[in-house]
Amino acid sequence: MKDVFILGIESSCDETSMSIIKNGCEEVATTVLTQMDTHAEYGGVVPEIASRMHTENITIVLEDLLKKSNMTIDQVDAIAVTYGPGLLGSLLVGVEAAKVLSLVYNKPLIATHHIAGHIYANNLVKPIEFPSLALVVSGGHTELVLMEADYKFKVLGSTKDDAIGEVYDKVARVLDLPYPGGPNVEKYAKQGNHTYDLPIPMNNKELEFSYSGLKSAVINIKHNAEQRGEEINKYDLARSFQDVAIDELVRKTRIALHEYKDTIKGVIVAGGVSANSFLREEMQKLCNEENVDLCIPPMKYCTDNAAMIACAAYPKYLKGEFSDLSLDAKSSVELY
Ligand code: KG4
Ligand code: ZN
Repeated sequence: MKDVFILGIESSCDETSMSIIKNGCEEVATTVLTQMDTHAEYGGVVPEIASRMHTENITIVLEDLLKKSNMTIDQVDAIAVTYGPGLLGSLLVGVEAAKVLSLVYNKPLIATHHIAGHIYANNLVKPIEFPSLALVVSGGHTELVLMEADYKFKVLGSTKDDAIGEVYDKVARVLDLPYPGGPNVEKYAKQGNHTYDLPIPMNNKELEFSYSGLKSAVINIKHNAEQRGEEINKYDLARSFQDVAIDELVRKTRIALHEYKDTIKGVIVAGGVSANSFLREEMQKLCNEENVDLCIPPMKYCTDNAAMIACAAYPKYLKGEFSDLSLDAKSSVELY
């Protein structure tokens, strides 16, 4: 069969990225331009600034990608773009760029879900074997998903309230750590000890998650210390939080594994929080103990990038699932 090259575009938050992927699994080239330093000055992503910067950066990213890949747009077979979920103004920049390229170069347009992108990033390591158990952990999602085939997702359990990444970001603010929150909490946690007593979320055998109680407990520790005029130990509180938060992911994955071990071929982890090295280590320990194969994308494919978007578009390309120019960006959209 002829090789298929897909040009992916990602602009759902504060990274402008484009990538060319061969056959859904082989990276030709990727460019990521992050706005992190700009948003760090404000303590978080400012949507209006993000969309303006995407507009400024998108052509720079395209030029850089084409130079790096040594390819022309004529040589790619399709244009894939994240259409949601994410910040509407940011998504629109990528979607409009994709539509223009699709129209001008007469290439099929593939609408790609951001979380499907995070999941399919695993194909850059090795082909996802079905059925697989996926732990999806990002700023908006915390769920265990049984992936029965390409784009056949069965949610086994999700969060009843906050997503894990969201709580990492909140804890970072409570500890006065700069944006981006998650990686900074991890950095502090590495230097601390588990000294604070925090509640175990959803201490039962269900596959649901809940992080609001843990989040409130961290906030209360900080407030109570302030009222008493005492200092909290940021390193220890970060460590105590991280231990409990990650243990919950591992504990629930173990329960799901016991239920589905005989049917699944492996475990995959997807989403921004999969960049957390403690989670990576603990998931590896779990999968060793349970004797099941684990796949987590390398760090550069865990955070937002367009390589994962082009990977996720490949099964759609094979099925001929294309969008027309009426494609619109959606801030919130279900994958399942
Ligand atoms: O998947 P993602 O890039 O964006 C969404 O699609 O939501 O995930 C972003 C989330 C943020 O909440 C960020 O704090 C978290 O992933 N994150 C981390 C780490 N790196 C990113 N959380 C914990 N430890 C990390 N190393
Ligand atoms: Zn993401």
